[in-house]
Amino acid sequence: MRIFIDTADTNELREAFTTGLVDGCTTNPSLIAKAGRDFKEVIAEICEMTDGPVSAEVASTEADMMIKEGKRLSEIASNVVVKLPLTWDGLKACRAMSEEGIDTNVTLCFTAAQAWLAAKAGATYISPFIGRLDDLGQQGMELIGEIRALYDTQDYQTQILAASIRGPLHVKEAALLGADVATIPPKVFKALLNHPLTDKGLSDFVKDWQGTGQSIL
Ligand code: G3P
Repeated sequence: MRIFIDTADTNELREAFTTGLVDGCTTNPSLIAKAGRDFKEVIAEICEMTDGPVSAEVASTEADMMIKEGKRLSEIASNVVVKLPLTWDGLKACRAMSEEGIDTNVTLCFTAAQAWLAAKAGATYISPFIGRLDDLGQQGMELIGEIRALYDTQDYQTQILAASIRGPLHVKEAALLGADVATIPPKVFKALLNHPLTDKGLSDFVKDWQGTGQSIL
């Protein structure tokens, strides 16, 4: 499973890329608003950090305008993926963009039926929102399994991009269920590594090694 970072904060993103474990980035209008910077500038800056996919979301809700905005965004860099909402207009735009060879990420997916429609429209990625379903008292993760089964049974190549990830458990479960990618907030990415027993174990090893008075080099 590939790792994308779900942020428009270029400082956080740059730090995450230094690990060598990050394959791409996703943004959305809320993350852009939080960053408080010019949208296209931010996307250009991110695309300079990576050759991996960088999702940039259209702002319009009407297909013709979405297509125009999507084309403009795709001109920023060759690795821009145009993010489109899961509406009829979004699917029309998705079909048009995929016919032009522009990668798309269909977002705000909450059912397997929606994911099926996005695949039929030629989406490169589908973004099921796990955390927002959990917030409603539903099992968000079940959606990942359903979409995986549907795409495999029906032989769709659309990649499942698990989104709205709230913690390390979401990441692990998405991987076990066969998601192709998880887009992870920077805080959760850091939390994936942390374990108190790792810290304590290392601290003991360092202390004991120093006690030997030896040097490897
Ligand atoms: O970028 C889409 C998605 O990951 C948003 O997550 O936490 O706002 O539900 P969240």
